[in-house]
Amino acid sequence: MTKQLLTLRVNGEPRTIAADSHHTLLEVLREELGLTGTKHGCELGECGACTVLVDGVPVLACLTLPALVGDADVTTVEGLANGAGAGAPGREATLHPLQIAFAEEGAAQCGYCTPGMLMTAKALLDTTARPTRAQIASAISGNLCRCTGYTAIYEAIEKAASRA
Ligand code: FES
Ligand code: FES
Repeated sequence: MTKQLLTLRVNGEPRTIAADSHHTLLEVLREELGLTGTKHGCELGECGACTVLVDGVPVLACLTLPALVGDADVTTVEGLANGAGAGAPGREATLHPLQIAFAEEGAAQCGYCTPGMLMTAKALLDTTARPTRAQIASAISGNLCRCTGYTAIYEAIEKAASRA
C-alpha cells in the first residue's frame, strides 16, 4: 500500500505522519494520531459523528482526504477543552462551556454523537453568540442522535450560549 507523508496542524500542533494514500481524515486522526474522540459512524456522510473543525468550519472527516486539508487548522474534540496540550502532564484540561452544559443537561447519553455534536455547536456559537432554537436545529441537522430526542442538546447549547 502506498504511504504518503503528511503534515497536519491538529489542535494547534504540527503532526507529521505517514498514512495510506486512500485514508480519510477520520482514519488518520483515529489510527495514525490516536485521536479517537472523533467517532467513526456511517462513513457515508450521513451521521455527523466524525465532525471536526477545519479552520473553524464543521467538516465530515469521513469524506475528507487529509491531503486536501493542507495547512488549515484541524480541531478535534480533544482540542476543545483548553486547546493544544490539554491534558498533557502538568497541564490540567479545562472543559469548554459546551462540554459543561452537555454534562449538566444530560445531553450525552450513549455519547457516540457527542464529539461531533460539540464541534458543530462550537462552530455555531463562534459565529452566532445567541442562536435561536431554529438556528441550533438547523446547525445540528447533520448530526444524528439516536438517544436524546435532541431537546437536552438544544437546551445545553442554549445554556452554553447564555454563559458566554
Ligand atoms: S462517519 Fe462521517 S458522517 Fe457518519
Ligand atoms: S447520545 Fe447516543 S447517539 Fe446521541
